[in-house]
Amino acid sequence: MEETVPKLPLIIDTDTGSDDAVALLLAAASGLGDVRAVTTVAGNVPVVTGTRNALISLQIAGCVDIPVHPGCERPMTRAPSTAQQVHGHDGMGDVGLPKPLRAAEPQHAVDVLLSYPRWHPGELTLVTLGPLTNIAAALLRDRDLLTRYRHVYCMAGAADMRGNISATAEFNVWADPEAARVVLQAATPDKVTWIGWDVSRTDAVMTPADQLRLERLGTPMATFAHRINRTVNDWARDVTGLPGYDLPDPVTMAVALRPELAIEREQVHVDIALGEETRGQLIIDRRRSAPVPNLTLVRRVSGTGFKQLLFDTCARTPGQASAPDPHPERHR
Ligand code: BDR
Ligand code: CA
Repeated sequence: MEETVPKLPLIIDTDTGSDDAVALLLAAASGLGDVRAVTTVAGNVPVVTGTRNALISLQIAGCVDIPVHPGCERPMTRAPSTAQQVHGHDGMGDVGLPKPLRAAEPQHAVDVLLSYPRWHPGELTLVTLGPLTNIAAALLRDRDLLTRYRHVYCMAGAADMRGNISATAEFNVWADPEAARVVLQAATPDKVTWIGWDVSRTDAVMTPADQLRLERLGTPMATFAHRINRTVNDWARDVTGLPGYDLPDPVTMAVALRPELAIEREQVHVDIALGEETRGQLIIDRRRSAPVPNLTLVRRVSGTGFKQLLFDTCARTPGQASAPDPHPERHR
């Protein structure tokens, strides 16, 4: 009899830009995730635009039944900053995407983040792909919120101190560093894992050959993923000098869906720099005298495993429900 893999029940918090969009495809269309709700937050683009982008991405994945709840419109204390220079004015490479079929839900994202794990204690995995504003706002109302989730994976920080928005900081943490600190103060390493920008910049980079492979798949999801990330490719070439473009949010989603893709982790105490010069930089304390670890940090993922999941997902027909074969090697 065929072995079936139970799908991972997910809540996803996102500032949907072009890499968040690909992460949503992985969550909704790989057959590995069971997305119960998507919540949105200001980040890459204003929250209205990010909400629209999340609705479009889920539609491309064949999942118009997943509710999308708009959340906080601005960081806790800072002025809003976007990453439209990276992802395009619409956050999706300005390729002229049509309006989504489904509208956003009226219930606020923070209420969703608070209520779903109370209905399903310990069952849901939360994956955050944007600034941590919604999660921090929820934590102000329920200090134990993170413990109510099965696990929380965040695309956040740059553990090697090489930044994308400043010399040493990663965008999601830099955009709302106070929120990131609130999350860290409630975190424990058994419940919270951060996957930083550093992890997506090595083996998981989408090289020109990978981009061609994606484009040549020619399916609706592959064409969408390829087209919307052209501006990121140009930005990466000009600013970060990568041999291709990075996909930090999809890498994070891949680790949530397939934790074995994380091949190096550490448990450490992390805080966030709030001063202007180092705003959003991770302060990682590896001294013997450091406070007890509050976080699991992923330091390396399998680039090959990540890309295989990406290509396999994009090759699928949108709306295909079943999980992929857990042991494809047995049938070769
Ligand atoms: C992160 O910031 C955004 O530009 C991406 O969507 C990702 O979440 C990378 O620093
Ligand atoms: Ca994001």
